[in-house]
Amino acid sequence: MIKTDVLVIGSGISGLSYAIKISEKMPETQIIIVTKSDEDESNTKYAQGGLAVVTNFDNDNFQKHIDDTLRAGDGENNREVVEMVIKEGPARFQELVDWGTRFDMDNNSHYKLGREGGHTENRIVHHKDITGFEIERALLETINKNKNISVLDHHYVIDLLTEHHVPNTTMVENEINCYGAYILDQKNKNIKKITAKITLVATGGAGHVYKNTTNPTIATGDGIAFVHRAKGKVSNMQYMQFHPTALYSKLDGMLFLISEAVRGDGAKLCSKDGQPFMQKYDEREEMASRDIVARAIDNELKISGDDFVGLDCQKMDKEKFVEHFPNIYQKCLSEGIDPFQQYIPVVPACHYLMGGIVVNKDGQSSINNLFAVGECTNSGLHGANRLASNSLLEGLVFGHNAAIKTVELLKINNFNFDALKSIPEWNEEGMKIMDEMVLVSYLRKQLQEMMSDLVGIVRSNARLELAKKKQAEIYQAVQELYNYAILSPQLSELRNLVDISYLVIHQSLEMTENKGAFYNKDLAKHSLYIQ
Ligand code: SIN
Repeated sequence: MIKTDVLVIGSGISGLSYAIKISEKMPETQIIIVTKSDEDESNTKYAQGGLAVVTNFDNDNFQKHIDDTLRAGDGENNREVVEMVIKEGPARFQELVDWGTRFDMDNNSHYKLGREGGHTENRIVHHKDITGFEIERALLETINKNKNISVLDHHYVIDLLTEHHVPNTTMVENEINCYGAYILDQKNKNIKKITAKITLVATGGAGHVYKNTTNPTIATGDGIAFVHRAKGKVSNMQYMQFHPTALYSKLDGMLFLISEAVRGDGAKLCSKDGQPFMQKYDEREEMASRDIVARAIDNELKISGDDFVGLDCQKMDKEKFVEHFPNIYQKCLSEGIDPFQQYIPVVPACHYLMGGIVVNKDGQSSINNLFAVGECTNSGLHGANRLASNSLLEGLVFGHNAAIKTVELLKINNFNFDALKSIPEWNEEGMKIMDEMVLVSYLRKQLQEMMSDLVGIVRSNARLELAKKKQAEIYQAVQELYNYAILSPQLSELRNLVDISYLVIHQSLEMTENKGAFYNKDLAKHSLYIQ
């Protein structure tokens, strides 16, 4: 057993900024960050567009950013949270700069500001089209200077240490405590109990519950699933955001993102034969919020039967394009697509989950001593649809608040670990006999197919009812497998994805009206969409 003061699960912007903050305020605190892959692998790393924050107060102001966020969220946001995040934004952004993150500037030392769907002003600060990569670099360099923070890579969290592992215990809401986690050390192949006074879940999203996603392979909803298993509150899982423009590929899995900032700089959507279509769906056309643009593309593809639509960049300034989007430009060329000679073929792909672990404004979950920050949460910021580039800001602001609250609790609380005595060691012996990777990957594919076909951008009552039935069958098969196959991260991820699908399907079925990213054609009064 390893003991620490603070256990951080996940190494994206939320987990890293939280750890740095605690270390700055309480340098004697022992902090362990665990991550299931390499230390820099996270959803953050793949953020292209940037971070939405008001920096140019001549044209922009907090109220405009607040209004854009509420409009995108279809009124389902928590207004107080929206105001807090946006008003704290500039201070948190400055800290990120102070930790060494570089953002693009013009010759007058003003930030270059990009634009994305749903924003009424240019306010996205960015580092070319690899903003997330740059943020990870700067944060990890800062982390590595702090001797009280250790990063354990390839450490996979299987479950939280809470009373729900005590045999024959009745769980009472608000009386569940977290004492750390059971963690599989993937290099040494042993399971460790890491105990902590405070645990933070910052595990990111769950894009791989679908066949096609812009998320890296680590995005399997682990944190949401293990908090749900520990009886923590999870909500808004019906709100799944599909990014309108992932680069089309014949292969399933992680699709390369063509940032919305490309449309912000003037690219136009069109059918394969060059017909523009966004004017039919929204007066803001390409700059409508993501839910609207993704549904419009989905509809156009259903009408035409094509596999993709085009993104036309040919009228854009090539020099500026290459300067702002060097990574996208190179990727297109490497796929044999010259964006200045032909359309970029694009499709919508699962991108961001608005729902998750319910947290208050300090990032506290419904389980005592368990915090959660970032995409794995429902913090109230995004409502039914996240405004582009608001998520890095959310990670910073909630990472900060959670750190302040953690420091306060560490100073005043007597953490009682008595209950730990009744939480058993993880017992793998005796029952686990087989390594069944073929079944693991077969069931994962079945789940992803089912979610993509039945619980996609446009849903219906019949599709959701069938999904509920199919999900229960897959759940049963995975439970059986879990009982006899040797525990592996792949098996545990599958179990988590099955939990995520349960939450998405059941919370979708509870909806009585369409909101933001959630769209059930049977709930629509007048529909623009064919299927
Ligand atoms: C993008 O660059 O289009 C993605 C930005 C985001 O998801 O916020």
